[in-house]
Amino acid sequence: MDMKEKIEALKARFNADLEAAKNSDALEKLRVAYLGKKGSVTELLKGLKDVSGEEKRELGQHINSLKKQVEEQLAGQVEKLKAAEQDRLIASAEQYDVSLPIAAPQGSYHPITVVQRQLEEIFSSMGFTIEDYPEIVTDYECFEAVNVPKDHPARDMQDTFWLDNGQLLKTQTSAAQNAIMRKYGAPLRAIFPGRCFRNEATDASHENTFFQMEGMMIDKNISISNLIYFMKTMLSEVFERDIQVRLRPGFFPFVEPGFELDISCLICGGEGCPTCKHSGWLELCPCGMIHPNVLREGGIDPDEYTGFAFGLGLTRLAMMKYGIKDIRDLNSGNLKALSQFKHE
Ligand code: DAH
Repeated sequence: MDMKEKIEALKARFNADLEAAKNSDALEKLRVAYLGKKGSVTELLKGLKDVSGEEKRELGQHINSLKKQVEEQLAGQVEKLKAAEQDRLIASAEQYDVSLPIAAPQGSYHPITVVQRQLEEIFSSMGFTIEDYPEIVTDYECFEAVNVPKDHPARDMQDTFWLDNGQLLKTQTSAAQNAIMRKYGAPLRAIFPGRCFRNEATDASHENTFFQMEGMMIDKNISISNLIYFMKTMLSEVFERDIQVRLRPGFFPFVEPGFELDISCLICGGEGCPTCKHSGWLELCPCGMIHPNVLREGGIDPDEYTGFAFGLGLTRLAMMKYGIKDIRDLNSGNLKALSQFKHE
């Protein structure tokens, strides 16, 4: 058999072998048998060294084209097998219906989040911006900037957690007043909810960690009537009924005059009942007209601008809205108590 016949014979054998190879192992064996170091095609190439001249060139071309054909057909067959394997896997996979509902447990918002979001919606609709502020602040931010100098007796009203570096966990959202005035200048309308901390012994109505929502409105000719209007509108929306409010004098160093804002009792509507200690009123929100010192410290001219501020107890509001009896439930992680509140 001359070389040409050998090439043709090898071609035919390879086609038959390829036909018979049904899996990737068999294909790999074929590759070694034809293209490996001692493979048939490699041997043919080695045999070329005994041929010379024109014939060598011609045979070389034949063998190389055979080699290429073997390589390509093997690779093609490998791909085909892979695809078939994939089809088989898909066909045998568990069938499932993507349109079926997934029975995952549904979470719910924390009651304070629900109330906070509701207030944010109400106040944004009245043109207030919503500000965020750090929980670790300086003495200046929390006290001095809001008219509570060092050694002022009003500091005793808030038992503070001090940090080793002289900073503190903010005791009141009023700590952001100065920065917000400096950020926007006058006129301004802003609310700033936040978590506050005080060194309190805890019981059903005291916690060392609680939430407030502070608000400020500063403009020309802002008066106590504006304060009353905004508070009444906001509270009537939160409680989904017409709420009466009244102001009593109250002392807070950052406001002058300062007030305690009471609302008509939610239980008896003002008739008098055990919840309101038969007075018909519930104490809800300290507020007042921003003290000129505080405006000045915030870079706002108190002769040109006036404003009101309030420090709503978000935690207390959530307790009143939902009838939560023990403040400690709110930080407890007790899902039985906390998962009943949904935000629409
Ligand atoms: N920061 C006060 C507190 O935590 C609450 C407060 C009172 C805030 C009067 C105000 C205000 O903005 O005007 O006790």
